[in-house]
Amino acid sequence: MYKEMELDHTGLELDLPVEETKRQYFYMAVCRKWVENFEKLNHRLPKACVVNMGCQMNARDSEKLAGILAQAGFEEEEKEEQADFVIFNTCTVRENANMRVYGHLGQLSPVKKKRPHMKIALCGCMMQEPEVVEKLKKSYRFVNLIFGTHNIYKFAELLAACLESDRMIIDVWKDTDKIVEDLPSERKFPFKSGVNVMFGCNNFCSYCIVPYVRGRERSREPEAILREIRRLAADGVVEIMLLGQNVNSYGKTLDKPCTFAELLQMIEEIDGIRRIRFMTSHPKDLSDELIEVMRNSRKICRHLHLPVQSGSTEILKKMNRRYTKEQYLELVRKLREAVPDISLTTDIIVGFPGETEADFEETLDVVRKVRYDSAFTFIYSKRTGTPAAAMEAQIPRGVVKQRFDRLLTEVQTISAQVCAVHTGKVMPVLAESVNDHDPSLLTGRLSNNLLVHFPGKEEMIGTIVDVKLEECRGFYYLGKQESVRTKL
Ligand code: 5AD
Ligand code: SF4
Repeated sequence: MYKEMELDHTGLELDLPVEETKRQYFYMAVCRKWVENFEKLNHRLPKACVVNMGCQMNARDSEKLAGILAQAGFEEEEKEEQADFVIFNTCTVRENANMRVYGHLGQLSPVKKKRPHMKIALCGCMMQEPEVVEKLKKSYRFVNLIFGTHNIYKFAELLAACLESDRMIIDVWKDTDKIVEDLPSERKFPFKSGVNVMFGCNNFCSYCIVPYVRGRERSREPEAILREIRRLAADGVVEIMLLGQNVNSYGKTLDKPCTFAELLQMIEEIDGIRRIRFMTSHPKDLSDELIEVMRNSRKICRHLHLPVQSGSTEILKKMNRRYTKEQYLELVRKLREAVPDISLTTDIIVGFPGETEADFEETLDVVRKVRYDSAFTFIYSKRTGTPAAAMEAQIPRGVVKQRFDRLLTEVQTISAQVCAVHTGKVMPVLAESVNDHDPSLLTGRLSNNLLVHFPGKEEMIGTIVDVKLEECRGFYYLGKQESVRTKL
């Protein structure tokens, strides 16, 4: 990693470095010069606001953007309308994600009229859609910078160009096979961090736009991942979340293949790391080897997010999920046999084209059989360019809404029962924050991902403590600390 000191010594008078990481540090130094100038003229530092609008992969990308802005000398600003530079890291998985972005831009338009020096940037998944960029070019001329998911590593370079220019800069790539390591990154929490293990997706589920906007699967080298985690551990991080669109196919495309299960075993050896989480798992790629590693692990959390999407084998086939209802249920059985206390969560889509009442009943049946700890339920959203968008028998809104409400009731009733089973037990909790509503309480997380509120002091944040789970309130517990733990 290049530290701040080295950045100060980056000789702007020298030639532009060839190696990509160094090149980007060079541009961070260029931005710093701009920041120095801004400070001289305005007697304050420029303020930057990073707005994350997507999933955990996006959230991690936002931390990288924030890291680069911090290196360039910007101050962090939470309110987008008060920033000198605001960047929206967008999502496009469902249509309402896109609508939110236009909503934000609509609100910023009059702000920018009053503060014309303000720079507005857009990046992330939504920018990979050509129709979106066309619309921005036509109707949102006040946007200064647009780039996509594949060249996010070039942010410092694009920022430098944007700060110096009043034109709209657009740099969106169709794909890349490049992974640039060792760029700076902020961390929202000092004690836990996301770690990318792979990028992109090769699955092409028929409803999903992600393979088109995130490109083909690329895995990071295990050594680069281990190096990052060792560094995080040395910096006080105790919990990591390994991130990828389909972590179970990690390593398949590496020159020296390495399975996800093997990677987990190597990570387990790293001192200081106490909890390991990962997402997202595709049921078709979840191997017996991985289940075995989970069974034997002291650090892998007792939680698996295993999106089912639908309980109907017929719909699963149309979704191109490549498993049947029975195969999914068998996988759940194997997981529970190996790790009896595992908590399972899922994603479910309602109203996929052609979904009949009988298909929907199959989904309810899976929910009742698996008894998820929680489920994210989505109304099918038509994404232009995906095979499902061209399918016949799109389901009327009223029918979808009615099924969605029935599913939600079922999911919530079951999860309230499932979550309550630990009442009375003493379990390790990672203290994460001071409670939003009551400052005498801390909010922490169990290995199975449930939240627990308990009396405690701010100094305990980032430590793992034993908490007696006294009362379950639906989706969280109220508890009391038993004793400070030193080991898991
Ligand atoms: N419509 C509704 N939900 C979708 N998801 C992905 N694409 C769509 C879509 N077109 C959901 C899936 C996925 C989660 C991240 O978003 O359930 O697992
Ligand atoms: Fe994440 Fe997918 Fe949304 Fe991109 S489109 S932010 S990958 S959920």
